Amino acid sequence: MNEIHFYNRRAKLLDLMEEGIAILTSAPIQTRSNDTEFPYRQNSDFYYLCGFNEDNAVLVLIKTPNASKTILFVEAHNAEHALWNGARLGIDGARERFSVDEIRDVAEYAKDVKELLREHINLYIDLYSDSARLNEAKSAAQSLHSTRGAKRHIRSILDVTYLIRSLRLIKTSEEIDAIRRAVTITAEAHHEAMRVCKSGMREYQLQAAMSYVFLNNGASAEAYGAIVAGGNNANTLHYIDNRDELRDGNLVLIDAACEWELYASDITRTFPINGKFSEGQREVYNAVLDVQLKVIDAIKPGVKRDWLQTYSEELLSDALIALGVLNGEREALMEAKEHKKYAPHGIGHWMGLDVHDPCPYVDETGESLAFEVGMVMTIEPGLYFRADDESVPKRYRGIGIRIEDNILVTENGYENLSSMIAKSVEEIEAVCNQL
Ligand code: GLY
Ligand code: MN
Ligand code: MN
Repeated sequence: MNEIHFYNRRAKLLDLMEEGIAILTSAPIQTRSNDTEFPYRQNSDFYYLCGFNEDNAVLVLIKTPNASKTILFVEAHNAEHALWNGARLGIDGARERFSVDEIRDVAEYAKDVKELLREHINLYIDLYSDSARLNEAKSAAQSLHSTRGAKRHIRSILDVTYLIRSLRLIKTSEEIDAIRRAVTITAEAHHEAMRVCKSGMREYQLQAAMSYVFLNNGASAEAYGAIVAGGNNANTLHYIDNRDELRDGNLVLIDAACEWELYASDITRTFPINGKFSEGQREVYNAVLDVQLKVIDAIKPGVKRDWLQTYSEELLSDALIALGVLNGEREALMEAKEHKKYAPHGIGHWMGLDVHDPCPYVDETGESLAFEVGMVMTIEPGLYFRADDESVPKRYRGIGIRIEDNILVTENGYENLSSMIAKSVEEIEAVCNQL
């Protein structure tokens, strides 16, 4: 993404801020075990504002009545670190690359932050982070507070993440391009899984086939831990074991997707392991698909997200009645939350720099937000019938189905960003049986 985008985002955040200072810190490196580490993943709010992808960095935004200033603290080049872990961008490299007003050495941060906090009364931070660099800032604020004769000191500590995440809610065309890129690779991976799947394989072998496509196309990472759930495993919503055998006659639910330049995709498809839906599987599949298509079709600017959730629950309840799983009037069944047993999760979530983008769902009064052009949401209805659930007609037991697409809100309604992925029974069977 071009520097100008990060510059514009900082300008928008400064607009939303009262006079004061905002401090954002990069994600720490996470230990996996002993002295091995997880691949580095930057903090999304920090990345959103500056695009810097190294650890041990701090971004400071200052707003005064007449001016604003941004400073990025980064680690200086270090030959020892470069030998073992690769070269950092360093002070000069960062100066060349980034459009912030100043680049400083992070080794100076603890000293500088005390100076920077002077004269301000509002401090914006991630209130819920325990980052060491933020704690240094709080200590500096505390010591200024007890300094006799100080003209001003921090009187309010405010949550900067709420402001940033309100901005993250509306995606720019560059962000949508990154999501499209992630979705395009993910589409190929799902089709590859459908093509290579055979009875007797293991779930992890489908995961491996998809990971190959992700890596081979330059995706930065999986956007979340892949779920490859054969048969009844699909009824464990967060099944990530992926070690079971894929058995003839069962379905496999795959919820797996990649990230492109830190932007997520999030796709689920459910298909028959042997390439042909049974009658019972087809009935449940088409019931879920019908709900998904109707919910997607209801998306347009102005529609409230809460309304969409209720609408999806009504449709899922109708589907459960039509399948003979629930008996009675829809209203009474919904009142008793009967559908929740078979459709326990929400209809979808915001998606962007995080797969579950932590953007607000309600406004400041607690009212559900209405869709606006540029929002991206997943739509992912599912029905889950456990193998041992005797309340369900026998032919449906052991079936778990979710269908998930990534939807962009547009002026005229919506665009399904993942519409290229096989979804109808006929499309899926065709890809499953491609040589
Ligand atoms: N893959 C996580 C989700 O669908 O929310
Ligand atoms: Mn998903
Ligand atoms: Mn999802």
